[in-house]
Amino acid sequence: MSASPIAMTRCAASLQDAFATRLVDWQRRHGRHDLPWQNTRDPYRIWLSEIMLQQTQVSTVIPYYAKFLVRFPDVAALARAPIDDVMALWAGLGYYSRARNLHRCAQTVLERHGGTFPASPDQLAELPGIGRSTAAAIASFAFGARATILDGNVKRVLARVFGIDGFPGEKRVESAMWALAERLMPGQQASDDDVSAYTQGLMDLGATLCVRGKPDCGRCPFAADCVAHATGRQRELPAARPKKVVPLRQTWMLVLRDGASVLLERRPPSGIWGGLWSLPEAADEAALAERARALGAAPGFERLAPLTHTFTHFKLDIEPRCADLACPGAVAPVQAREDETAWVPLAQIDEYGVPAPVRKLLDALKGSLI
Ligand code: ADE
Repeated sequence: MSASPIAMTRCAASLQDAFATRLVDWQRRHGRHDLPWQNTRDPYRIWLSEIMLQQTQVSTVIPYYAKFLVRFPDVAALARAPIDDVMALWAGLGYYSRARNLHRCAQTVLERHGGTFPASPDQLAELPGIGRSTAAAIASFAFGARATILDGNVKRVLARVFGIDGFPGEKRVESAMWALAERLMPGQQASDDDVSAYTQGLMDLGATLCVRGKPDCGRCPFAADCVAHATGRQRELPAARPKKVVPLRQTWMLVLRDGASVLLERRPPSGIWGGLWSLPEAADEAALAERARALGAAPGFERLAPLTHTFTHFKLDIEPRCADLACPGAVAPVQAREDETAWVPLAQIDEYGVPAPVRKLLDALKGSLI
């Protein structure tokens, strides 16, 4: 990546001065004007909508928003309601910490601010559940404050229009985007309505034209200056979260056969696959041979196809080895479920809780026996 995430083309740089005017003009003519939380300057209603709209689509929020306002018409009603009532009305919206913070925020506004939301973005951002971007949205919609938002949609718009490389979740890129977003804001002379239209315009552009999948560049007010449009990089910008390099672990597994049955072991209750039934394991082939011998296997392994399983924090390479009992039929065919080991007919594997890759391995073995 380049030293600075923002290495702007001349065209995009000269757009900075015209950006706000063009966006406000576009919002007034083509933006959204009839959402239930628009056409009000009531900070309670605006705050409620902004919290509900975090990570949630407009169409999902609308019925919840209406129900909330009937049950809790103002911040005092919400603050005094039992949390269970709030959670019950929130059920289905997801991200439930938002509902708990919503309730705590209402109580804080009542106790610390006498029931009136503060007008400054900085003070709003001190309240539970309100981050920097949400504080700016509330302050600009309710009080006409010149404060910029920077949510996921806005990051996408800025990354494309101004050709900003790098993953926006990375601190360095995000800081550069905040700085750019601040520079783009309408000037000091802007009216409260201009500021609200600007903020709404950023949201509308990201939600209706400059969408993730297939942006509608033909209708975009910035198409003529947009770096992504000019270079055909709409799909590359903003950059995706870098793939984590996950560590690789290896294990050797023993498929010990007694006719059509295999030996399973119950795994320890904690750790990966805790409490599931799996194959005996060892850290290398020699150690597995030693285990196999102790379990009564005849000498010699048959190699089975290796497989890889991906966990969130690592990849597991499984090297399976097959062996037969030295004295087939000498062991009890199936032991009780409570035991730590069990001889299980391949046809009955489904009755045991077996990890997915082990099941895959045993299914393949079953297929080869039939
Ligand atoms: N997403 C977040 N805030 C929004 C708003 N005020 N209108 C539409 N979508 C939004």
